[in-house]
Amino acid sequence: NKVVLAYSGGLDTSAIIPWLKENYDCEVVAFVADVGQGEDELEGIEEKALASGASQCFIADLKDEMVSDYIYPSLKTGAVYEGKYLLGTSMARPIIAKAQVECALEVGADALCHGCTGKGNDQVRFESAFAALAPQLKVIAPWREWDLRSREALLDYLAERNIATTASLEKIYSRDANAWHISTEGGVLEDTWNTPNEHCWVWTVDPEQAPDESETVNVTVEKGEVVAVNGEAMTPYQALIYLNEKGARHGVGRIDIVENRLVGMKSRGCYETPGGTIMMEALRAVEQLVLDKDSYEFREELGLKASHLIYDGRWFTPLCQSILSAADSLAQSVSGEVVVKLYKGQATVTQKRSLNSLYSEEFATFGEDEVYDQSHAGGFIRLYSLSSRIRAMNTQKQK
Ligand code: ARG
Ligand code: SIN
Repeated sequence: NKVVLAYSGGLDTSAIIPWLKENYDCEVVAFVADVGQGEDELEGIEEKALASGASQCFIADLKDEMVSDYIYPSLKTGAVYEGKYLLGTSMARPIIAKAQVECALEVGADALCHGCTGKGNDQVRFESAFAALAPQLKVIAPWREWDLRSREALLDYLAERNIATTASLEKIYSRDANAWHISTEGGVLEDTWNTPNEHCWVWTVDPEQAPDESETVNVTVEKGEVVAVNGEAMTPYQALIYLNEKGARHGVGRIDIVENRLVGMKSRGCYETPGGTIMMEALRAVEQLVLDKDSYEFREELGLKASHLIYDGRWFTPLCQSILSAADSLAQSVSGEVVVKLYKGQATVTQKRSLNSLYSEEFATFGEDEVYDQSHAGGFIRLYSLSSRIRAMNTQKQK
């Protein structure tokens, strides 16, 4: 028996390794996804996995693929969950699960395992992806089976087995990081009357402490993707890292929300998405120039639908893939250049232009022009409001 575990190096997944071996009499292969969570989490992770009893540890570099194949496609739909959350954790789960499945098939495993709790969204996202990609593999979710209910219990469990850990008793927050965002839940945030304090925020400076001087970034967008920043060509991942650094300095991209989880409960979370917030603003600004009214409305509908599908773990479904394709098709004209001003927590687009722009000073002006004849508007409005006119006439007749 062989199980491939999505391993993060944290306390939970470290305890899962011996637990699997004892309860499933199996070999455990640790699978680590590098999605840009940073050196802090990745350093020495292979040694850690082996020290906890894994037979092998694989680390997959998914950073470029995540930005180009998961983040950009989502960005083109405009997906924002419940009006605020830029879906950082939600978008990372399908790519991690997919790479984990590939690892499992390669090593000939018969089961997949993850460290998500039984109360959250992540378990749904992992297991829905597993179902779509490798339904033949068994799924093990220790949090739904074991009776280790606290950090203390997990530490004791490892100590009893002489497995060393650097984890400490008080880890107040539940965090998840990748190149796009870092999320913080739990701890003092569980009371919605508690203001997030400075320990809650990790990447970004407090907007009040941000530089008094604003800074501008010039973002080049091509077919709905950021291809250059400040005139320098960059890969999707490089652009994100660059904009993360700029945004974080100015306190851009902090949000604090109470959201509806798929499993029915509400939860409160603080999210930091500095570069993503800048990218989102830049893309929407180019769309303002190039998308006609109906296309813009449709893009908004795609975004709303995609936000739920992505949040709810439905990435690998025909519906979600169709929506991503539709948004990609609309984005073919979304090319241009945008200047974004960063100042005390805000990312504000101050300049925008596009060769595909439908906006024309000539047409919008109130002066004389050739294309728009104001006398045509009267007939248009008469037909456009015809049903209202007929309804009103009926009502008047029946009085
Ligand atoms: N609530 C967010 C979401 O469902 C963030 C989840 C964070 N996950 C974690 N393992 N800490 O997308
Ligand atoms: C977890 O419960 O494992 C993290 C939070 C979530 O999945 O929503």
